[in-house]
Amino acid sequence: MNNNNLKGVLLCGGKGSRLYPLTKVINKHLVPVGNKPMVYYGLEKMTEAGIKEVLIVSGVEQCGTLIEQCGDGKDWGLNLTYKVQTEAGGIAQALSLAENFAGDSKLFVILGDNIFNMPTKDLTNNFSTGAKVFLKEVSDPERFGVAEVVKKMSMYGNQVQVLSIEEKPKTPKSNLAVTGLYMYDNTVFDKIRTLKASARGELEVTDLNNLYLKENSLIAEIMPENCWWTDAGTFESLAVANKLVNK
Ligand code: G1P
Repeated sequence: MNNNNLKGVLLCGGKGSRLYPLTKVINKHLVPVGNKPMVYYGLEKMTEAGIKEVLIVSGVEQCGTLIEQCGDGKDWGLNLTYKVQTEAGGIAQALSLAENFAGDSKLFVILGDNIFNMPTKDLTNNFSTGAKVFLKEVSDPERFGVAEVVKKMSMYGNQVQVLSIEEKPKTPKSNLAVTGLYMYDNTVFDKIRTLKASARGELEVTDLNNLYLKENSLIAEIMPENCWWTDAGTFESLAVANKLVNK
């Protein structure tokens, strides 16, 4: 399917300091996972979702090599555009760089260091307004955005009602991590403009999602049980990612 009213944003910013010193010599998103660079997984998921236009937001560190590897995107049937995030401003700040690229389109956003096997074909089909996030049970929720949800499943398949989302809480209210896979309507840029930097000096994607939650337009779905998801931005999670993709 050709998904005409959604554009993709693959967020590949950050210094990759949690993978230092490896990331002194290689762009974090080119670090191998299984038999290919990390960034390929996100690109493949964009293609599978039927997206054609994708913006890669890259950090400045070795961004030339990232562009060399991904090129114009035709290997994935994509049309790639690039933007450089020069400051360590966080995920929401990186996303704000997509405003001109987005035009009137809605956005399908993937964090470049997130790897998952959930099929993305047809995933965006019913998305119209608001925002959508995907949740996955983890054993170490304090590393992620964590959603507190109403326990009882709704009648809409895997959808759950979110009560709150907290970024890296010391005492998580659940073990449901908000994964790095999001859909946003076009109000996202106005919302980002109202965000204030968090204690770690970043515009947090969790604060952005909470704005949608506040206006009652956040949809949350639990990832199907037979699907796996992991980040690959630390040595520990990179090892997990390698195991999962090699399975
Ligand atoms: C980021 C987000 C967090 C999300 C995670 C998924 O965390 O801030 O909400 O759960 O990605 O990988 P970070 O990469 O900053 O640790």
